[in-house]
Amino acid sequence: MKHRFNILIFTFLTFLGINAQQITSPDGNSVLEFDLNTKGTPTYKLTYKNKAVIKASKLGFIFKDDENLESGFTILGSQTDSFDDIWKPVWGEESEIRNHYNELLLHLKQEASQRLMDIRFRMYDEGVGFRYEFPEQPHLGHFVIEDEQTQFAMAGDHTAFWIPGDYDTQEYDYTESRLSEIRGLMDKSITENLSQKSFSSTGVQTSLMLKTDAGLYINIHEAALIDYSVMHLELDDKHMVFNAWLTPDSQGNRPYMVAPANTPWRTVMVSDDARDILASRMTYNLNAPCEIEDTSWIKPVKYVGVWWEMITGMSSWAYTNDFKAVKLGVTDYSQAKPNGTHAANNKHVKELIDFAALHGFDGVLVEGWNVGWEDWFGHSKDYVFDFVTPYPDFDVDEIQNYAKSKGVEMIMHHETSSSVRNYERHLDGAYKFMKDHGYHAVKSGYVGDILPRGENHYSQWMVNHYQYAIEKAAEYEIMVNAHEAVRPTGIARTYPNLIGNESARGTEYQAFGGSKPNHVTVLPFTRLIGGPMDYTPGIFEMDVSKLNPNNNSHVNSTIANQLALYVTMYSPLQMAADLPENYNRFLDAFQFIKDVAVDWDKSVYLEAEPGSYITIARKAKGTNNWFVGNVNGKAGRISNISFDFLEKGKKYIATIYADAKDADYKTNPQAYTIKKIKVTSKSKLKQNSVEGGGYAISIMEE
Ligand code: NOJ
Ligand code: CA
Repeated sequence: MKHRFNILIFTFLTFLGINAQQITSPDGNSVLEFDLNTKGTPTYKLTYKNKAVIKASKLGFIFKDDENLESGFTILGSQTDSFDDIWKPVWGEESEIRNHYNELLLHLKQEASQRLMDIRFRMYDEGVGFRYEFPEQPHLGHFVIEDEQTQFAMAGDHTAFWIPGDYDTQEYDYTESRLSEIRGLMDKSITENLSQKSFSSTGVQTSLMLKTDAGLYINIHEAALIDYSVMHLELDDKHMVFNAWLTPDSQGNRPYMVAPANTPWRTVMVSDDARDILASRMTYNLNAPCEIEDTSWIKPVKYVGVWWEMITGMSSWAYTNDFKAVKLGVTDYSQAKPNGTHAANNKHVKELIDFAALHGFDGVLVEGWNVGWEDWFGHSKDYVFDFVTPYPDFDVDEIQNYAKSKGVEMIMHHETSSSVRNYERHLDGAYKFMKDHGYHAVKSGYVGDILPRGENHYSQWMVNHYQYAIEKAAEYEIMVNAHEAVRPTGIARTYPNLIGNESARGTEYQAFGGSKPNHVTVLPFTRLIGGPMDYTPGIFEMDVSKLNPNNNSHVNSTIANQLALYVTMYSPLQMAADLPENYNRFLDAFQFIKDVAVDWDKSVYLEAEPGSYITIARKAKGTNNWFVGNVNGKAGRISNISFDFLEKGKKYIATIYADAKDADYKTNPQAYTIKKIKVTSKSKLKQNSVEGGGYAISIMEE
């Protein structure tokens, strides 16, 4: 009877809206409202300048073999708070980041189960982050999530920049379409290749960029993905509601939790100016402060490498084609005949070290230095590398000493072949080997199906592995650039030794058939929201058949566009990916890559429209020099910029590297002009760029 009475009172109070609670962003533009619906299900909605961004959307969980946490809640209490602080990142797009938000914390109780769940909202000027928190409590210990019920109800049939939901890869070109068109445009040839379990004809990945007809830019992603699985989004395209779609493990289970625990933050950014999305540091701000005490060993790196020649098929990772001589799992190369195309050999690597030293690069990456590539490629999908045994033509110490004598650092490569347990077993040995041989950075990779079999690249188990590799690397003072790993969610604030990730379609695809010419105008709005990408720009020879006659790919970009990427694709790790011989043909354009900084005091977002164009100016850390990059994804366009970001009263020399009038990303990509002009903070520039083109400017104090 008493119970019933409570419910009656509760329903009455709900009708009066007594459960509704609001917070606004510090600038007052965004309003978030939390409420419990008549079933006691938590809901939230978000407006920006009085326009609906997220309509009433449900929050909660389906548990495996247990009572769900989705309805029957009451509010035990709530707290509000405000926070305003400035922190200094170890590397970044600026030297200081402001973390300014208003917070609302709801303490909820599910009466029937007596279980407690808190929901914490943080409102920034650029949007909201919220997460679920499960406090320590008597009635909730271990639990397995079958489904997260978080919804993001859209207010219309927006335009989206999306890639298909996939538990294992993000290496896709983006499709720009209305939400209602996703189902029809979902590339069946891609989804047919996916395991059946990960197929959804309306499933897309985050970070998802959206634009409304009213001109709002909305971005949905997550922050601080720790000990949880990746959230994709599945669209209910009748109602235009996105539902959280968590990556399962090999058993089909979603995250395994033990209270006390928190989920990652779910983030919704919004603005009527696309530049605000690029300038937002909300994702970093929602992560914990730096855990590494002494960060002096973490340094941004500009590097060259033995890489593009292998990706294009011009040379090989493997030492021999004589597969018979290299038996499965046996690494005796003494009988094997060299294939003559093995790139990681002493002579060739020394040439590259010379090139790096001559042009002032910090590092040289060498892939294919260690035994096993024949077995992995030729025989066994289950091959396990040991990360310490070099091929006979690569002398680790000789190369290390040579590099040192030239003032260049070698960068290690760990292709794990996705044998993840094997990598974990070898990790201490592999990192120790690096320390002993003077390596401070590693590019790791997770190509192919995960071993143990059935695990997904984006499951909780794998997320924990990537995190383990980063934290263990920090113990050894090693910087990590992980390819095919989970897309970043701002973790680099806490572990700034994570200096790069791939986790999207990088330049390698330009040698696998090509990417869309506007790809690089989307990535900063999507993949880069969570952290830097090792995009490996700087290709000057767009005709890949010139490197490998059997590869007819074309790099869909102009040289000026390639230069601009060093500014527009922010990363503390930047590669000059092309071959020295191609740079030697265009040394005047190469000068920009030599000059451009990899660490910044300040970034100014001059122009931005997802899928179309991005123009950014950045001030090189500790100097008065600026670098500007513009990438243009669609039809030729005139960019109008003002140099008012420069210090007043100072004089500068600007060198403008731009598409020539007749440049064309397909037929004439190497047509560029270089012009020097004097500029001050009063100068303005009208600059043309072609589709797949752009411009880059270095601005040096006179
Ligand atoms: C895929 C990576 O993205 C690429 O950069 C690397 O060269 C190969 N895997 C080999 O590990
Ligand atoms: Ca890759």
